[in-house]
Amino acid sequence: MKIMVVGGGGREHAIIKKLRMSSKVSQIFALPGNGGIAKDATCVDIGAKDIEKIVEFAKNNAIDYAVVAPDDPLVLGAVDALEEVGIPCFGPRKNAAIIEGSKVFSKDLMKKYGIPTAEYEVFDDAAKALEYLKTAPIPTVIKADGLALGKGVIIATTRNEAEDAVKEIMENKKFGKSGDKIVIEEFLTGPEVSVLSFTDSKTVVPMISSMDHKRARDNDTGLNTGGMGTVAPNPYYTDEVAKECMEKIFLPTIKAMNAEGRPFKGCLYFGLMLTPKGPKVIEYNCRFGDPETQVVLPLLESDLLEIMESVTNETLDASKVKFSDKNACCVIMASDGYPESYKKGFEISICDSVADSVYVAGAAIKDGKTVTDGGRVLGVTAVSDTLEDAIAQAYGKVERVSFENAYYRRDIGKAALRAKEK
Ligand code: AMP
Ligand code: GLY
Repeated sequence: MKIMVVGGGGREHAIIKKLRMSSKVSQIFALPGNGGIAKDATCVDIGAKDIEKIVEFAKNNAIDYAVVAPDDPLVLGAVDALEEVGIPCFGPRKNAAIIEGSKVFSKDLMKKYGIPTAEYEVFDDAAKALEYLKTAPIPTVIKADGLALGKGVIIATTRNEAEDAVKEIMENKKFGKSGDKIVIEEFLTGPEVSVLSFTDSKTVVPMISSMDHKRARDNDTGLNTGGMGTVAPNPYYTDEVAKECMEKIFLPTIKAMNAEGRPFKGCLYFGLMLTPKGPKVIEYNCRFGDPETQVVLPLLESDLLEIMESVTNETLDASKVKFSDKNACCVIMASDGYPESYKKGFEISICDSVADSVYVAGAAIKDGKTVTDGGRVLGVTAVSDTLEDAIAQAYGKVERVSFENAYYRRDIGKAALRAKEK
């Protein structure tokens, strides 16, 4: 089968590497892919948001199956457009992708269907939001309604910070139209867990749980990033918690989306916080997480394409989805300076012995060489029997990858190890 994967980051590289293992796959195109993905797929210079060109490419190249990985094209309706010309896809339609595309939608959904989440208020008027903040409990959390490259969430620890955030988002339009509405919500505490799941709108099959490390610097300091590393499984996510999440969050969410006439098919990502009052939803994503995918898919033992097709065909209940009981750790190597300004264009050298474990996020090809081309450059994953060894091996592999200006956290997985010791 000829497969097309829309997107061009580390997550897409992990999806492509797994799809390549399927005996049914003959060729994979990545739109646009990147300089590192080019080793595993044919990269096509079409942007992930250019839906017209994506559809045209799929038609002209007799694509048998499409995987739409990033949030933007999903929210813009890439799956609807591809299905219209008869191309089966993995990913939700536009009317279901709104679960990530609008925080107001997802909060209202949870409230209506009794799915546990932080208390909140919605505002479309800055003056009213500022008035509310005069008496709101602090810390508080301000969220832009729409997509904001993962930067639309501000945790305000003082009233001034909260007011500044409202002004930046609603008056200065820091995130454009994404900030026309905002959610102001209760600050929750507890360990965070990411659970990606396959769902065909009837059945939901959670993948192995994982833990992201969002801050740029060691010991969770520094700015928020797209994710500096991950481990799977997440030790906080016990069987008991998993059962509670299935009953109170996963199934109710699928049912709620059906009841709203927005059946969700694809990967539904539950960003959870295990609060003293039980697990609550921090956010939904309508897609695989990045860099969660770089630890979750290496642990998948079943055929990814078969699972994806069963989601499309609504036969997930009969599909085999098996994860190994090993542990995985992914360390992100970034350009020093990320998530602020950084230099790029440095040659990346990857030892052959670790090439299979490297998921490239930001690279270009220049004069025949693979060079850095983004903030997060690549992720290096190791799988092992114990978490401790997976971490040690991941850092060992990092030593065999080099580029000028490389920066990575030294403590990925340490919090998970500490949690295991408790
Ligand atoms: P998001 O972009 O929705 O993933 O939010 C980014 C991060 O902000 C989350 O991973 C949490 O660490 C934090 N966060 C979001 N909402 C809350 C909340 N209500 N209480 C505490 N932390 C939150
Ligand atoms: N790692 C969080 C996300 O993919 O949004």
